[in-house]
Amino acid sequence: MSSFPELSLSVRDLAVSFADKSGRLEVLENISFSLAKNEFVCLIGPSGSGKSTLLRTLAGLIPYSQGTIEYPDIHDRQVRTGLIFQKPNLMPWRNLSQNIALPLELEGKSRYEIAPKVREMIALVGLEGFEHAWPHELSGGMAQRAAIARSLVQDPDILLLDEPFGSLDELTRDRMSEELLRIWSEKTKTILMVTHSISEAVYLSDRVLVLSRIPSQIVLDLKIDLPRPRDSQLRYSTAFAKSAQVLHDHLRI
Ligand SMILES: Nc1ncnc2c1ncn2[C@@H]1O[C@H](COP(=O)(O)OP(=O)(O)OP(=O)(O)O)[C@@H](O)[C@H]1O
Ligand SMILES: [Mg+2]
Repeated sequence: MSSFPELSLSVRDLAVSFADKSGRLEVLENISFSLAKNEFVCLIGPSGSGKSTLLRTLAGLIPYSQGTIEYPDIHDRQVRTGLIFQKPNLMPWRNLSQNIALPLELEGKSRYEIAPKVREMIALVGLEGFEHAWPHELSGGMAQRAAIARSLVQDPDILLLDEPFGSLDELTRDRMSEELLRIWSEKTKTILMVTHSISEAVYLSDRVLVLSRIPSQIVLDLKIDLPRPRDSQLRYSTAFAKSAQVLHDHLRI
């Protein structure tokens, strides 16, 4: 057996640029990294460093001018990516169950296939009892759980989260981090998540990637060697503070 972990995603020499007034804006330059299967990796970097651009490129929403994006495990079908934004973007005229069912409806799945999957997702994100609630009746944290459920119902190969808890208050945010870890350990997914919070990155991740200013490159790929399962007490440990300090130092470069 190979001692190398199975790779889920491999990105090599990726470059992305946009047209602007003066020509082209080079945003990502020579980005290379890989994610092991079921790894939880956070991406941090200064504002405007191309974090959202990288996630959107991986989701196939932005074309890239150079490099390769490979999912070494998937040969015989299209890669499924789940992309979650800061705002849950639920459809206001659909109740919770109908929102979660939407991606499967779009795939043309039958009602009989959809119903049990939606029930499973609602239970997974802890929203039982709210099946028929309208989006405006949900709190920010509940709406974001619904967005996570809507993404997971398609069984994506990789989950891409762009500051998913950025609009939540600090307490809800910490609770959502714990929830996300629980969901991740139950569903075992490869996750790449953008956050502005160093402590969120350390708390959640197996590794943290740090982007520089544009044209951005990965300036640090830090392994977070903290035991799992993690609980909130870990945030006060010396090992936690050390990792946070290293990330902080690299963000200032
Ligand atoms: N569709 C686009 N067209 C032109 N320029 C863009 C486009 N999307 C992003 N940019 C530019 O690319 C750069 C990186 O933007 P991006 O949104 O990826 O940064 P970010 O790291 O996610 O920032 P933040 O932390 O503020 O969310 C910025 O200079 C931005 O103006
Ligand atoms: Mg962004």
